[in-house]
Amino acid sequence: MSAAKVILVCGSGGVGKTTLSAALALRLAEEGKRVLVLTIDPARRLADALGVGELDNEPRRVPTERGELRALMLDSKRTFDDLVVKNAPSPEVRDRILGNHYYRFVSERLPGVHEYMAMERLLSLLMAEDADVIVLDTPPTRHALDFLAAPDRMSGLMDEGVMRWLVLPATASGWRMLEMGSDVLAGVLKRLLGPTTIADIAEFFSGFQSLWGGFRERSLAVRKLLRAPGTHFLLVTAPAPGARAEAIAFLEVLQKDAMPFSGFLINRCAVPAPAVLPWPAAPDHRTAEEWAHVREEVTTALERRRALTGAQDRAIGDLLAHAPSGSPAWRIPDQPTDVHDLASLRRLGVALHDCGAVDAILGAG
Ligand SMILES: Nc1ncnc2c1ncn2[C@@H]1O[C@H](COP(=O)(O)OP(=O)(O)OP(=O)(O)O)[C@@H](O)[C@H]1O
Ligand SMILES: [Mg+2]
Repeated sequence: MSAAKVILVCGSGGVGKTTLSAALALRLAEEGKRVLVLTIDPARRLADALGVGELDNEPRRVPTERGELRALMLDSKRTFDDLVVKNAPSPEVRDRILGNHYYRFVSERLPGVHEYMAMERLLSLLMAEDADVIVLDTPPTRHALDFLAAPDRMSGLMDEGVMRWLVLPATASGWRMLEMGSDVLAGVLKRLLGPTTIADIAEFFSGFQSLWGGFRERSLAVRKLLRAPGTHFLLVTAPAPGARAEAIAFLEVLQKDAMPFSGFLINRCAVPAPAVLPWPAAPDHRTAEEWAHVREEVTTALERRRALTGAQDRAIGDLLAHAPSGSPAWRIPDQPTDVHDLASLRRLGVALHDCGAVDAILGAG
């Protein structure tokens, strides 16, 4: 397995996870690293921000000035299919699973499967790709918590006891009897799972038996990876009082499960107003009265800015007072324009470097 660092960029909706993942990945690449950035957020924002037309399940090269940057977007169905193709014991079993109605439901719509496949994809990238760093852009916190729990849930599901319960009725024709005896159940299934029958489910589980061991093994490997010293969780948050609760709740989940927290990226911080603003004499084309008016407006704007940065400082102080002492908090300035191209990502990358976040990540683990 590659010894790449894994950086997971997490946080609530809209705080800037995708933007900062892209900016960090670009910066690391341009510092000479081989970087992969994977988004599990189905929105197209990463592709847009990086200026690549489209992203799919395979890494695509992003043009950089130095280093190597490749980006991809999780296709969870594709990832699942690839796993079946790779691990099925025979072409016959492979085709039986891929063509099964219940498999289609499981691979496309089973709650939690997208999150779990993100972890499988991360693992397969670590196995197959040469990279120094893998940056993972995640969906908003609630789902991020889902994917953190996914490997545990998956390995739990694959415990022998559960498996026996699911598979036995198939081998003892129990499912078939149930199906014949219950039109109601068949109707419910149809509504929930489309054209799936109980026989499909039984067939799926019997075909899948030979793959469970591998799934279980890999979910344990992911569990370990999420707690490894080369793994970094960055928590993106806003410098606002309302952002504290969710950020702290997320941090508590990480700590409870012994996952390594690297620091807060406090995104979109207002740039502080200068303490003193030397005021020039009125230019020739302005009357003294007009110039006094301009000065008044500038003073009001500066005061507003000071009030804003003061409120932000208090919110950040409050966040840190609730976090373990010494938690790093890197402030990322609010950019004057929307961040949607390589040039603006590069500027944000400079900010990530200047605040110390990049060195802290590269230096640690
Ligand atoms: N530092 C910044 N300065 C200015 N604009 C920013 C900054 N960071 C993010 N943005 C803008 O904020 C918006 C939301 O950012 P982004 O899509 O990265 O958030 P997200 O956390 O990935 O959202 P979601 O939870 O929906 O996936 C985008 O329009 C982005 O350009
Ligand atoms: Mg996003």
